[in-house]
Amino acid sequence: MEKYYSRIEIFVLADDYAGMTKGFLAQHGVSYFIRLYRDQGEKTSILFDTGYDGKAVLHNMKLLGLDINEVDYIVLSHNHYDHANGLLYLLEKRTKKTAIPVIVGKGFFEKTITLKPMVRILNPDWPRNQAESLGAWFIETSEKLEIMPGVSVPGIVKYDERLEFEKEAPEYYIVGENGFKTDFLEHEIALVIESSRGLLVFAGCSHPGIASIVEKVVNLYGRKVYSVIGGMHLINADELRIKRTIQKLRELGVVKVFAGHCTGLKAEKAFLEVYGDDFVRIHTALQISI
Ligand SMILES: [Fe+2]
Ligand SMILES: [Fe+2]
Repeated sequence: MEKYYSRIEIFVLADDYAGMTKGFLAQHGVSYFIRLYRDQGEKTSILFDTGYDGKAVLHNMKLLGLDINEVDYIVLSHNHYDHANGLLYLLEKRTKKTAIPVIVGKGFFEKTITLKPMVRILNPDWPRNQAESLGAWFIETSEKLEIMPGVSVPGIVKYDERLEFEKEAPEYYIVGENGFKTDFLEHEIALVIESSRGLLVFAGCSHPGIASIVEKVVNLYGRKVYSVIGGMHLINADELRIKRTIQKLRELGVVKVFAGHCTGLKAEKAFLEVYGDDFVRIHTALQISI
């Protein structure tokens, strides 16, 4: 595999779990700051998701010695508030006044709700034009998009492409002018970084199923996935689904699993049993160096 980056650093700015940290703020959400170093010392920074509370994300960023002005690209995994709402506050606090590319999956701007246990809006609170007025330059894609050499989003995983055991019962809905229809979260995108050890796959909530996402990446890139990092959305999964998911990730050659957010305690225990020291529970302020 071609070596694009001499070092990759990942800082967890938002996760549901605080870990044993001092002064950092946890929240229901995901936000990772990813810094890529090239041999010559140049670096590029990517923000993957923005959590719900941008204020808490920025607070953690400062404690880690990171600067929002350093971010070159933002990738939003999907349109749920716990991943995208923090964007507006972070844009407000950005003093650099150049436009910033914000990569999202096609369908990101649909209005979405859940019905259980009551009607709840799932979208972030900000309207698109407000984010745009603060410099967000949205790029919507359903196909693979290379952001820069060795960094890309693999495109969406269609419902039909998913592994059978990851096809869930309807839980979310898209609200349109003629009523509402099931939202299969087809617009969720992952982020893929090519490291010298293999591909790193960042997943926000893994609504399409983490095994389906990783299988798509392996087929599309023709390379092994070294690590998956993110929320695995197994919090309500039964034991059989958890078992089959871990089996499939093993079969696909995944070496290291960093799981947090919506993975759930049962799945974390199962990952730990199979992966041992190669399983890491994500917490706010966790730093990973690859
Ligand atoms: Fe979600
Ligand atoms: Fe989530």
